[in-house]
Amino acid sequence: MSRYFPKLVFLLWAYLLIASFLLFYALALLVLASFQRRDVTSFGFASYYGNHMVLQKSPERAILWGYGNPEGAQVTVYLSGPLKYNSSPVTVENGIWRVTLDPIEAGGPYNVTATLQNSSATLTDVLFGDIWLCGGQSNMYFKTSQIFNASEELSLASKYPHVRPFMVALKRSDTELTDLIGVTLPWSVPKASCVSQFSAVCWLFGRYMYEKLKYPIGLVESCWGGTPVEAWSSSRALQQCGLDQNKNSPTDNSVLWNAMIHPLLNMTLKGALWYQGEENTHYHQNKYNCSFPAMIDDWRMAFHLGSGGQTAVDFPFGFVQLCTKIKGSKDDGFPNIRWHQTADKGFVPNSRLQRTFMAVAMDLPDETSPYGNIHPRDKQDVAYRLTLGARAVAYNEKDVAFLGPFPKQILSTAMHVNITYDQAVAVKSSKDVFEICCSQSQSPCGPKSLWVPAPIIHWAATTVQLAASVCRATAEVAALRYAWKDWPCDFKACPVYGANTSLPAPPFIFNRYQANNYSFWKDISR
Ligand SMILES: *[C@@H]1O[C@H](CO)[C@@H](O)[C@H](O)[C@H]1NC(C)=O
Ligand SMILES: *[C@@H]1O[C@H](CO)[C@@H](O)[C@H](O)[C@H]1NC(C)=O
Ligand SMILES: *[C@@H]1O[C@H](CO)[C@@H](O)[C@H](O)[C@H]1NC(C)=O
Ligand SMILES: *[C@@H]1O[C@H](CO)[C@@H](O)[C@H](O)[C@H]1NC(C)=O
Ligand SMILES: *[C@@H]1O[C@H](CO)[C@@H](O)[C@H](O)[C@H]1NC(C)=O
Ligand SMILES: *[C@@H]1O[C@H](CO)[C@@H](O)[C@H](O)[C@H]1NC(C)=O
Ligand SMILES: *[C@@H]1O[C@H](CO)[C@@H](O)[C@H](O)[C@H]1NC(C)=O
Repeated sequence: MSRYFPKLVFLLWAYLLIASFLLFYALALLVLASFQRRDVTSFGFASYYGNHMVLQKSPERAILWGYGNPEGAQVTVYLSGPLKYNSSPVTVENGIWRVTLDPIEAGGPYNVTATLQNSSATLTDVLFGDIWLCGGQSNMYFKTSQIFNASEELSLASKYPHVRPFMVALKRSDTELTDLIGVTLPWSVPKASCVSQFSAVCWLFGRYMYEKLKYPIGLVESCWGGTPVEAWSSSRALQQCGLDQNKNSPTDNSVLWNAMIHPLLNMTLKGALWYQGEENTHYHQNKYNCSFPAMIDDWRMAFHLGSGGQTAVDFPFGFVQLCTKIKGSKDDGFPNIRWHQTADKGFVPNSRLQRTFMAVAMDLPDETSPYGNIHPRDKQDVAYRLTLGARAVAYNEKDVAFLGPFPKQILSTAMHVNITYDQAVAVKSSKDVFEICCSQSQSPCGPKSLWVPAPIIHWAATTVQLAASVCRATAEVAALRYAWKDWPCDFKACPVYGANTSLPAPPFIFNRYQANNYSFWKDISR
């Protein structure tokens, strides 16, 4: 017996160890589970509802949701303010309740109270107005404290108490999240201190729109510097463009969509603003004409479904066409992305990008920006140009000119190219912002073709005439492009602006020998 004794002791000791380990493990799991339960199911609103927030006004209905228990309990939402309102009760399902309010007119302030049995949660000083989501990369992230005349702008902030900023925390996720991981700026009554840290383009847009609309504006900033469009796109959208295979790609497809956009889908929105594309000048550049429109389509569908049909299925989507990066650069990444931002049409809205609007920004370079040339400090003009598009496209205001001049006919002879614009133009002489490609073979010109400057030699109310004699000897003008450079002009000094609007003509590239351009390109020398 004694021979076996040590073995028995050892076995006993081992069993004890294992048992205590298991017990500890089970206890730890229990504690953890109860923590998570508490965390998720204690009664309250989801992370992006807060005091001072703006909810979407009528005719849309705002959505409120949050957490609660027990399962099946009834939640009712009360509004007290300019009018009183009680929602019908809803039940808690899977720890979540969700109420769709009746349409509420612009105004406030309201207290919004949700009750479940004896608990209640209240949001105070809530306004109803229009919600705009602001997304993109560093030029959207660019703070109001960094712009030209920042101190003047910031001193105005407190005069706009009905323009309310909110900022989503910069987080990524490999799966689609229901709620935000974090909030960088909770809904705030604007003061210099918070607006200084907020997106300048987003803030200025909201402030200028408030001047027009005179009712509350809610601004939701959700953006991150140096990010490609793929990070903000769902796998559905990426699939449309054959970009979904890159699992574990260095740029992490969908990770920001998952963490910073998907949780917001249930919030009713008026529209979205977007300033992004720089990162894609060197990443899947030639796919951007697919990936950008596909992302817009997908966001529209997802916000529409997420809000139970409240956010319009074609909600207005405004974006900034890329500004500039390197003066004198011959790289064609910027012009290609600018073109792709319009789905290769040169202007928006168009058949592929309906209910969109664009602020042209290639004429707003900033050579001495302390934040790098890629971050120009004039965000006032960018935001102002966006408001023109928003007024025309999102608010259906008649007679708001928001488009710069665009060619409606091109005539070429052996000596000249005549461009007829769709509106009156103000022209400054230029030797090289227009370029032509001479070809003997009637084949489309590409980036590697020989492009030569075509100086402006004459202009009239709606036309610009270029010298094309350089092609004369052996070839003909086969293609024409405008402002096809990273940094095509000095500040507000491009050759063509609208005579009445002062808006810059957007860049374009036209190949005569491409089916869709042929009809408006006429060669009268043949
Ligand atoms: C909202 O609640 C606050 C604080 O409880 C109260 O002071 C205020 O009068 C309420 N406002 C309305 C409109 O009910
Ligand atoms: C709610 O409060 C009342 C009165 O304080 C109490 O009698 C009742 O048990 C409470 N109900 C729940 C579900 O906590
Ligand atoms: C997008 O652009 C690329 C190259 O720039 C071109 O080859 C392709 O056909 C375009 N795709 C679409 C959908 O327009
Ligand atoms: C929010 O919308 C998404 C997408 O439609 C949906 O999966 C999710 O259940 C919604 N969440 C709530 C709380 O309604
Ligand atoms: C800054 O302020 C000056 C003086 O008022 C003005 O001339 C200039 O246009 C402003 N700059 C911007 C970008 O708004
Ligand atoms: C081109 O424009 C010039 C100046 O506006 C005009 O004199 C000329 O007739 C035009 N040529 C054609 C072919 O329309
Ligand atoms: C635009 O400007 C031109 C010339 O500057 C002028 O003749 C025309 O009437 C203007 N059009 C509008 C719509 O203002």
